[in-house]
Amino acid sequence: MHSPLTIFTLILTASTLQLLPALALTSCRTSCGSIEIHYPFGVDDGCGAPQFRGMFNCSNDLFFITPSGSYKVQHIDYDKKTMVVYDPAMSTCSILQPHHDFIMTEIQSFIIPPTPDTVFALLNCSIDSPVLNHYKNLCFNFSDHSCDELYGSCNAFRVFHLLTNSSPPCCFTGYDTVKFMSMNILDCTHYTTVVNVDNLKGIGPLDWVYGIKLSFSVPDTGSAGSVTADDGRNHYPWKFVIHLCWF
Ligand SMILES: *[C@@H]1O[C@H](CO)[C@@H](O)[C@H](O)[C@H]1NC(C)=O
Ligand SMILES: *[C@@H]1O[C@H](CO)[C@@H](O)[C@H](O)[C@H]1NC(C)=O
Ligand SMILES: *[C@@H]1O[C@H](CO)[C@@H](O)[C@H](O)[C@H]1NC(C)=O
Repeated sequence: MHSPLTIFTLILTASTLQLLPALALTSCRTSCGSIEIHYPFGVDDGCGAPQFRGMFNCSNDLFFITPSGSYKVQHIDYDKKTMVVYDPAMSTCSILQPHHDFIMTEIQSFIIPPTPDTVFALLNCSIDSPVLNHYKNLCFNFSDHSCDELYGSCNAFRVFHLLTNSSPPCCFTGYDTVKFMSMNILDCTHYTTVVNVDNLKGIGPLDWVYGIKLSFSVPDTGSAGSVTADDGRNHYPWKFVIHLCWF
């Protein structure tokens, strides 16, 4: 049997060690621009859940950082656990921009993946594109819309149509397609992304919302959850006090 004093010392030591990083922290900002920041997110060192650290940057506005760029956070719904981001470098119905890939880290794909109602529209694909051949079952239409509509309705995409005097192939698909195949492999020159596609019946591409909706999971905070404040930082001094109270 351990003496109560040994156990007390052990816990005291453990608590003190936990206390040190907490003391070194500065305060955690609870907003960035117009976006509220709560657990599991954080923009300051040591804030938020460890899984999400380093994924955000607050420079006037809040940005979600992935290996392919900085995506402006438009909205976070903490009840539905969704976040809508927008890539300022992406083509939309009104602006054509040089193409690039959308890349997330393995961890991001796992803990904050795009939602099923976010659609990737691959545009100006070559006839050799895998999504027109072996993988054509990855393409779908949603809410009675076909991707050809984008060439006719959007000023930005009319150029594809003009050059060839016909509509080059295109494909509406999900995140998994672009996760496993780069734009080079897909052999499409541009893409755009649309959110909330299930609510777009009868609404034309000019009025769609362009962006990416991500769905995040909130990590279990364990037994210390009840003393974890909403600013997303573990309040170690409380644990310290609680341990002392047991004796
Ligand atoms: C975050 O924003 C600052 C200021 O705009 C910039 O200097 C920095 O490089 C950004 N960090 C990342 C990881 O993008
Ligand atoms: C569309 O794709 C073709 C190749 O398939 C390319 O030559 C052309 O430049 C692309 N159009 C635009 C506007 O990028
Ligand atoms: C989508 O709709 C277009 C035009 O109605 C049609 O030609 C195409 O076959 C449809 N694609 C799929 C995958 O259902």
